[in-house]
Amino acid sequence: MSHHRILTKLHLIAIFLSVITKYEPAEKKSSLQLLTQQCRYDTEVLCPGCFSASINCDFFENFLTLDGNELLEGIMHCINQHGVRYGTLNDNKQRVVIRNLNKDGAVRALSDEICDEIGTSGTEECRLKNEEPYLRALRRRVLDENLVEGAVICPSDEEVLRRLLLEIDGHELSKMLLLKVNVQPLLLKMLHERGFPVPKLVFQGGFTVVETYEGQSLVNFYDNSLNVRLMIANELIKASLKFTNGYNGFRFYLTDMSLDNIVVRILSSKEVKLSFVDLNNVIILDSHNRRLNPHAHTHSRIDCDGCFAYVQNDICSYEKSDINLYAVCQLLLEDLNGDSSRGFLHNLDDNPNLVTIQSLLQNCVYCSPPHCENRQAILQRIQTIIRDVVYNV
Ligand SMILES: Nc1ncnc2c1ncn2[C@@H]1O[C@H](COP(=O)(O)OP(=O)(O)OP(=O)(O)O)[C@@H](O)[C@H]1O
Ligand SMILES: [Mg+2]
Repeated sequence: MSHHRILTKLHLIAIFLSVITKYEPAEKKSSLQLLTQQCRYDTEVLCPGCFSASINCDFFENFLTLDGNELLEGIMHCINQHGVRYGTLNDNKQRVVIRNLNKDGAVRALSDEICDEIGTSGTEECRLKNEEPYLRALRRRVLDENLVEGAVICPSDEEVLRRLLLEIDGHELSKMLLLKVNVQPLLLKMLHERGFPVPKLVFQGGFTVVETYEGQSLVNFYDNSLNVRLMIANELIKASLKFTNGYNGFRFYLTDMSLDNIVVRILSSKEVKLSFVDLNNVIILDSHNRRLNPHAHTHSRIDCDGCFAYVQNDICSYEKSDINLYAVCQLLLEDLNGDSSRGFLHNLDDNPNLVTIQSLLQNCVYCSPPHCENRQAILQRIQTIIRDVVYNV
């Protein structure tokens, strides 16, 4: 490239940066104002029936500071599709994540569909109400096994849904809408206080939620020392058992257990804390339901190019499935294309204990049901080896 062209490019970059710096103070405020405005729109226009009158949308402006350069953040936010931003609570300096639940106008699309169905569209702007015809239409969608969006509730019957909704406070309308649009805040409410490794919900303002920041994605720990990775593996195993055992009869099967969706904080040389931050792809099973097959379901590996495949109908028909346990074995052993050099526990060296872990994982992932060793037993043996190697106990 000629000197002239380089200078021209540098010149343009300098103009761009000076524009950003010039307008930054005003923009910094407006980003938080936008969150407040969005909250008002959600609660007063988009779905007043979903929220109690006392939601304090000023929370965003009064209690929150967004990270970094607001304008650059704003631009990055538009480019990345994640829908999360980072910030700090002003009073206790707690790091938080701000998440938009209503991606791609999902609430509006669902509301329009329901108004069309019950014949209230056309008269005025469609608004869902906490009334029976709307609730009935939503309930049917929440329980429809053929619709792909939203959490899967199974077995899919009204009694299961009723029991589940009783576990969470709030308006029925808003709870059911979130089951379809983004189940994350409902699960955080249910699970955090019961000791599950998930963030804490700090605030919900309309369809924007603020939750605690819980560390960096597992991807960032991929090249960490083996000791750190073994401690993380131990926590992953604990978590997979906890979500499977669930509480009050409900089990939670996570069908998108990827390195992106789990975050980690290193607390000390002997302690790490794990958190599952993307709970939107979940199957919630009511294991007390009498229609279920009382035997345990053993998941069988299904070849799938870069994806995690499973048969929903199987998982939803048995009182218990080992799919979470399988998913952890797979995450530790290989990537979703079956490449074992890309598993989280790659490069286990020649230590005989670690070779045993490798072969237990191989067995866990590649066995063919019904000839599989119990996966819980396999994972517990791995935990014993990890404790031996990492903690010398
Ligand atoms: N509570 C949290 N603490 C720390 N990091 C988080 C938290 N929530 C999200 N993140 C980070 O943001 C990234 C994106 O979040 P998430 O996985 O929930 O979004 P997404 O994959 O875009 O969502 P979805 O799959 O629902 O569209 C995560 O990979 C993680 O790095
Ligand atoms: Mg994700």
